[in-house]
Amino acid sequence: MATLDIVIMAAGKGTRMKSARPKVLHRLAGKSLLQHVLDAVAGLAPVHTLVITGHGAETVETELRAPRLTFVRQEPQLGTGHAVQQVVPHLADEGTTLILNGDVPLIRPATAAALAAASGGTRLALLTIELADATGYGRIVRGGDSGDAVTAIVEHKDANPAQRAIREVYTGMLAAPTAWLKRAVMALKNDNAQREYYLTDIVAMAVADGLPVVATQAASETEVLGVNSPIQLADLERRYQRARAEALMEGSGVRFADPARFDVRGTLSCGSDVEIDVGCVFEGNVTLADSVKVGAHCVIRDAQIDAGAVIHPFTHIEGARIGSGALIGPYARLRPGADLGPEVHIGNFVEVKNSTLGKGAKANHLAYLGDSTVGERVNYGAGSITANYDGANKHRTLIGADAHIGSNCVLVAPLTIGEGATIGGGSTIARDAPAGQLTVARAKQVSIAGWKRPKKPRPGE
Ligand code: UD1
Ligand code: CA
Repeated sequence: MATLDIVIMAAGKGTRMKSARPKVLHRLAGKSLLQHVLDAVAGLAPVHTLVITGHGAETVETELRAPRLTFVRQEPQLGTGHAVQQVVPHLADEGTTLILNGDVPLIRPATAAALAAASGGTRLALLTIELADATGYGRIVRGGDSGDAVTAIVEHKDANPAQRAIREVYTGMLAAPTAWLKRAVMALKNDNAQREYYLTDIVAMAVADGLPVVATQAASETEVLGVNSPIQLADLERRYQRARAEALMEGSGVRFADPARFDVRGTLSCGSDVEIDVGCVFEGNVTLADSVKVGAHCVIRDAQIDAGAVIHPFTHIEGARIGSGALIGPYARLRPGADLGPEVHIGNFVEVKNSTLGKGAKANHLAYLGDSTVGERVNYGAGSITANYDGANKHRTLIGADAHIGSNCVLVAPLTIGEGATIGGGSTIARDAPAGQLTVARAKQVSIAGWKRPKKPRPGE
């Protein structure tokens, strides 16, 4: 396409959010509303992307700063037309300008592209939709010679009863020939019910100038709904999550115990025969291979989980890779750098960080493995920990294949436990333990013959 500029309006106050945070920074699926809009249009290769800021401008500009983004302040906010006036000096001299709203997060890339194409630098294209309840929206007024041409947008507050009966509304998004748009917005007046400069008044100006006006219908209500209140934000979040769940069910056959109790805040890719129980949250980039089962109430971020692994309920995983057929949890915690081989078992209240576990290694109860390399088939006993931190530096623990670490051991790193070694329960091991031998480091057990328990004095004694 020829030159495309994109303008995103984000100066509004969002009073009904009842929040100190600027409205467009509130999060949907873990990402700010404004970032959703920016991501939706990133593929259109615009020459300029201009974001109009006002309320909370500094916070918005700091959080959203990106190389190809220009922020333009609108101070004070005198209406949507006034907002676009602020970016006029930044717009190209030709081509198309696409105007979107920073608080309408679920606009589909295809719809934004279609709107820009409908303008094609020669027409004013409005994104419209029919609503059962159009209260508050600008109405699309049709008439002219054909009786069907768009002749104006009339704001709800300025509409007469016949106009208020119109169901087709302006979604707040349009595309226009840039050179014409610049002239038109500079000519806007504020003689209306709200004493605002209405961007929507450019429609009547286009008609007067003989510029064709076309309406492009949005594919669904969801992609044009704005966020004005916490209730609307929560509603859009559910619509978004439902759509993601449906895409996974239709695309990969994922079986959800309840698609209404599922949240993805990033990207979730699934193989076939994946099962996900209720209340799970997936963040960042998560891949679940074939036949992975995720139990209830797991939080999984940036993880790759191989075929057939089972994640039992209440498990927390971040920055980890889990081998095929592994059994994890319930109540396990895998932290960044946990790299578990096939058929590893990690049980309840076990924490693993920055550690590699070979095939079939097991740590089933109440344990900590940090900065360690654990060989195949190692059995790591209940309550054992790697003491990997000396207060200043982290050190590694190497445990050879087939080693057996008893319960309640402290392995003081740096440390190497040889292959097939056995460490007696309750040992504090601070020096390397040789392969194949039993190493015990605890006080010798003694029994004292004839020892008597102290007795409590009886009353009166
Ligand atoms: C606007 C449209 C209305 C449309 C509706 C769709 C106008 C005059 N009306 O009405 O036809 O049906 O959107 O939601 O355009 N903004 C600024 N600076 C301002 C005022 C607003 O940046 O001075 C931004 C807001 O942050 C928001 C967007 O523009 O992102 C829309 O503003 P808002 O006041 O919500 O417009 P509506 O009255 O809803
Ligand atoms: Ca308004």
